Amino acid sequence: MTASELRKKYLDFFKEKKHSVLPSAPLIPENDPTVLFTTAGMHPLVPFLLGEKHPAGKRLASVQKCIRTGDIDEVGDNWHLTFFEMLGNWSLGDYFKEEAIKWSWEFLTDKKWLGLDQKNLAVSVFAGDEDAPFDNEAYDLWRDLGISEGRIAKLGKEDNWWGPAGKTGPCGPDTEMFYWAGVGEAPKNFDPQNKNWVEIWNDVFMQYNKTAEGKYEPLAQKNIDTGMGLERTIAVLGGKKNIYETEILAPLVAEIRRMAGGGGEEKSIRILADHVRAATFVLGDPIGVVPSNIGQGYILRRFIRRAIRHAKKLGIDTKENVAVPLAEIVIDLYKDDYPELAEKKDKILNELQKEEDKFDKTLEKGLKEFERLEKITGKDAFNLFTTYGFPLELTTELAKDKGVQVDVKEFEEEFKKHQELSRTASAGQFKGGLADSSDEVKRLHTAAHLMLAALRKVLGDHVEQRGSNITAERLRFDFSHPQKMTPEEIKKVEDLVNEQIKNNVPIVCEVTTVDEAKKKGAMGIFGNKYGEKVKVYSAGDFSKEICGGPHANSTGELGQFKVIKEEASSAGIRRIKAILS
Ligand code: SER
Repeated sequence: MTASELRKKYLDFFKEKKHSVLPSAPLIPENDPTVLFTTAGMHPLVPFLLGEKHPAGKRLASVQKCIRTGDIDEVGDNWHLTFFEMLGNWSLGDYFKEEAIKWSWEFLTDKKWLGLDQKNLAVSVFAGDEDAPFDNEAYDLWRDLGISEGRIAKLGKEDNWWGPAGKTGPCGPDTEMFYWAGVGEAPKNFDPQNKNWVEIWNDVFMQYNKTAEGKYEPLAQKNIDTGMGLERTIAVLGGKKNIYETEILAPLVAEIRRMAGGGGEEKSIRILADHVRAATFVLGDPIGVVPSNIGQGYILRRFIRRAIRHAKKLGIDTKENVAVPLAEIVIDLYKDDYPELAEKKDKILNELQKEEDKFDKTLEKGLKEFERLEKITGKDAFNLFTTYGFPLELTTELAKDKGVQVDVKEFEEEFKKHQELSRTASAGQFKGGLADSSDEVKRLHTAAHLMLAALRKVLGDHVEQRGSNITAERLRFDFSHPQKMTPEEIKKVEDLVNEQIKNNVPIVCEVTTVDEAKKKGAMGIFGNKYGEKVKVYSAGDFSKEICGGPHANSTGELGQFKVIKEEASSAGIRRIKAILS
């Protein structure tokens, strides 16, 4: 089965079970300050898991592009990737455990669907602890479906509990499904430590809310959140022993082998393939980022630079572009399923080339400098970063090869001293999870809508949103406009927004179709991102936007709006930072 066939089968199955299919959201989340990238299909659904009504209903399914850098050290083994696709289905306070488990089983084993042999399947369920009891319901459901006792592992929170990513929020036990990818018959008993058992699917039962006091209270709306790894699943369906042999990765690996003249370590080949693929998807995302030293741009830079370093390790001549021809293969492999890659091909290849050329100039010198160091202090690592552009993990990786350690703490202190320490630096941020939907964020989100409307009134209708990022402290907003705003224009925008705040206009939410929303003049971006039904948020006649929410109830809640910075973001794109006080 090919990746395309699996995507289709999965969505067809859940359509039969009355689910609405949602398109993949961008990799770079909007209005979600807790994560840099979409790390699971549930991310774009956070407000709805917390109780907002979803316009497409209570049963949803999607194939979501994801990036997880939390597992980056494992990339190179048989089963881990930084970029992957997640097949998922959700119940928003509708069906629960029984249907979720039975449908997972039906999809996996029924000949009409995947037809996997039951002999090769095992599962794990939550064992119970002081916060929540043993999940005997899930255990009994699996037993009734015919899984033997020995093939059901009972595990603790580490393995069988999902969320919350932050300190509080919805979470719950989960049940994971594993497939035997080892040589010979699957053992009678399931040992989760045995790496030949590959996790392919996770059903989360979001039935608790973790409170600020650390208590687990039953949740009013019980949700189902599942995630199946596409690459892993097509690998096991095809009897492959690793994901790199699947049709969506094998052509990349083959080309890398050819470039390397047939030699080199398998791990470096895989890291190069994985990182170029991830970089291609990040560059091709509807919300564009480019390599930089902060936020998503920094992760992108790390992918590209680490890829180049491994190319060098493989003996590939990095004077010639390496990532560029590999990215062309990625685009070719995915252009039908992700048309944005073909649309953004020029940007993807240009940015890769620029970054490769920039890094290649300093790589040799940096490596020489590195060789001279006997031990690597945090300051040395920071110097390698600022002078030679070595991301921290490149230095730690080189240090490991040399048998020495890097003082990561000292590096981070240096980093902090010199610039705003981006959230990228702390691995904990990548685990994914629930968004911050605090009142501060809601208010700033509403302010962003008012500001877009004001910008269009002051500057003209060519102004369109190009990206937005909101934390509890400030909003950051990118929009199309060819030149720097004058102080007078900024003042006019502030005045218009503050006037709306003074008028205390209620924020009204309406569910409608995309066409209807457009007819009514609602603003909306990113073309095919929306499902059939959408929500439109309005503030009187002043602002009307297609948006998932959440928002303040009325503009009066916002306080005083102020622009604190207006600057260039990239060619033809301006960036505003603004606050409410
Ligand atoms: N959110 C869960 C996961 O990421 C299920 O999709 O595993």
